Amino acid sequence: MRILTGVQPSGIPHLGNYFGAMKQVCALQEKGESFLFIADYHALTTSPDPKTLRQNVVNLALDFISCGVDLDKTIFFRQSDVPEVCELAWILGTVTPVGLLERAHSYKDKLAKGFAANTGLFTYPVLMAADILLYSSNLVPVGKDQKQHLEITRDVAIKFNNAYGDILTIPEGYIPDEVAIVPGTDGQKMSKSYGNTIPIFGTEKEIKKAVMNIVTDCKGLEEPKDPDKCNVFAIYKLFATPEEVRKMRENYLGGNYGYGHAKLALFEKLWTTFEPMRKRRAELAADPTFVERTLAANGERARAEADKLMRKVRRAVGLR
Ligand code: ADP
Ligand code: TRP
Repeated sequence: MRILTGVQPSGIPHLGNYFGAMKQVCALQEKGESFLFIADYHALTTSPDPKTLRQNVVNLALDFISCGVDLDKTIFFRQSDVPEVCELAWILGTVTPVGLLERAHSYKDKLAKGFAANTGLFTYPVLMAADILLYSSNLVPVGKDQKQHLEITRDVAIKFNNAYGDILTIPEGYIPDEVAIVPGTDGQKMSKSYGNTIPIFGTEKEIKKAVMNIVTDCKGLEEPKDPDKCNVFAIYKLFATPEEVRKMRENYLGGNYGYGHAKLALFEKLWTTFEPMRKRRAELAADPTFVERTLAANGERARAEADKLMRKVRRAVGLR
């Protein structure tokens, strides 16, 4: 079984990204032949600054590898190292009805957020279909927000196969629904766009500051507190051991335990949990050619796979 997913390079990773994406991707690499790529062509649809985009790609590679992407198990590459994906997207575009793309929620959402209605944004799902179909992927783990894009991929693949023969593998989506939404420092979903994140690779000062900013009620030190209504406790629960969680619960209920104490315990837990990853990241980042070498080598492996499918596709549609 071939498992493939893509991630957009979009800045500093936070706890929500770690639990909702990085950890999931790492768990799945045990379940089949795993492909993971950095979607830099897709990132262009929202016109990032070129220097920032290049830097975000390098950072994302370091983030994922230090959080557990195993380069012996996963082909981890940069989307634009396999430019055939654009060729396939073009060909798929010729069997994709405009109406299918007009119904895409994410396109409408992006316009509502004020992004320019460029055709790249409009045909985003066709490029995503090409990403998936180019590697004959069987399983595509995605967040709920990408479900519709996966349905579009399946529709497009079926249309292509009906027109040209059974060439493309119809993929299945995999939406890990047990993944809890990680709350941010204000209790809403943690998200870069809400400015309520806790960065996993921040400095001690940055992480402490984010933790100290977690919103709580204003109960005094001596008053008993309800752990189930507290953002600090909700975040602590994500990675403390059952024994540690039990202890903190008791502390809340017993009184004489302030939110400051809970925040300090959370900070310490965060700092020690991510310590091995932080160290690994620093080691990898110290080698200025590591990311480039790794992505280039993996890109070649991905490109060899892509080439196999493109030969069939070109022949089927009547190109060279
Ligand atoms: P952001 O909302 O910060 O911009 P992204 O949309 O870039 O985050 O999300 C990247 C990945 O991280 C997606 O797979 C998404 O499902 C996951 N993710 C982001 N925020 C959370 C969260 N608060 N809880 C769980 N998963 C999250
Ligand atoms: N659109 C996805 C996102 O924003 C990223 C992505 C691009 C992707 N191509 C993909 C995910 C192919 C899975 C498969 O999260």
